[in-house]
Amino acid sequence: ERGGYPHFMLKEIHEQPKAVRDTLRGRVAEDLSGVTLDEIGFDEAFTKSVDRIHIIACGTSWHAGLVGKAVIEQYARIPVDVEIASEYRYRNPIYTPNTLAIVISQSGETADTLAAMREMQSKGVRVLAITNVVGSSAAREADDVIVTWAGPEIAVASTKAYTTQITALYLLAIHFAHVRGNLNDAGVHELLEALAALPQLAEQVLDTAPQLKSFARRYVEATDTFFIGRGIDYAVALEGALKLKEISYIHAEAYAAGELKHGTLALITDGVPVIGIATQPDLYEKTVSNIVEVKARGAFVLGMTWVGNDDLEKTVDEVIYLPKTLPALAPIAAVIPLQLLAYYAAVARGNDVDKPRNLAKSVTVE
Ligand code: F6R
Repeated sequence: ERGGYPHFMLKEIHEQPKAVRDTLRGRVAEDLSGVTLDEIGFDEAFTKSVDRIHIIACGTSWHAGLVGKAVIEQYARIPVDVEIASEYRYRNPIYTPNTLAIVISQSGETADTLAAMREMQSKGVRVLAITNVVGSSAAREADDVIVTWAGPEIAVASTKAYTTQITALYLLAIHFAHVRGNLNDAGVHELLEALAALPQLAEQVLDTAPQLKSFARRYVEATDTFFIGRGIDYAVALEGALKLKEISYIHAEAYAAGELKHGTLALITDGVPVIGIATQPDLYEKTVSNIVEVKARGAFVLGMTWVGNDDLEKTVDEVIYLPKTLPALAPIAAVIPLQLLAYYAAVARGNDVDKPRNLAKSVTVE
């Protein structure tokens, strides 16, 4: 059942090209002229009227939501708040009459996410669920649903669900931007072309596995590690750190690279492993200057950037090269090496990769 892989997690990491392809299937017009999201019931008037979006989720799904905020704001210019469900449900959020809520849940059964969703519906807010389980509570109760076609995810650590959630959010962002006139046909075409290439990109990044396996040896004895990045790379850093904590049991922190010097830099000492994510050309110089700061304190840095950008080799100890894509689409390729790193670190430490201690696949308690 593990298809020849030693663990479900490794199998699911390798299923990502297919999962992303399946999530795009039928939703991108063959001539790249637009997005079809037949399953959502928004008409043009509603799509144009939305003036605020609240994205609610937990854990890895929340991290996907952070990427969603970045792309929806960039392309559709709708203000987005992303919030953790267990926080959101206990405060008194401000809705406009045209607020749309998006809940993201792989299982569709996470108690806090469902409670937040019910709370919003009771206030008359329209809720769209992005879920991987067709018959789940979230799918049944939401006003609209986008299914992620990742297939069953067995490993507790989420991998292919995350990349398909991001794929669904890209489709939604492009759809909103197109209908609202923020993107013209050429802009839609360019984005959809890049989106259609993502499965191929994911396939290519899987080839970094041997490099990550060897780098993961540094984590056998490590006690602390940091993931840094700016913008959308910070969202990916949060996911990389969670994955590592959850299955390798090594303390990991994600930091917005520019924020390090406001306190956390004190923890960077000789030999501390740092992952520096630099996939965004606009932010590249700034991120590199933060990487220089951690190098100066003795950190051992693995950098990630787009292929062809050899410049990073001057600053870091090792580089992972990611295939080129539009900056906004970088997270799908960038997260895969981090999933592999967490996986190989957990294996090297002899942990139960698919069933980490203290955790459940579906969190149905509050
Ligand atoms: C981490 C992980 C969790 C889930 C979270 C939400 O690898 O899997 O953080 O993302 O428990 O679960 P869903 O998406 O089912 O609501």
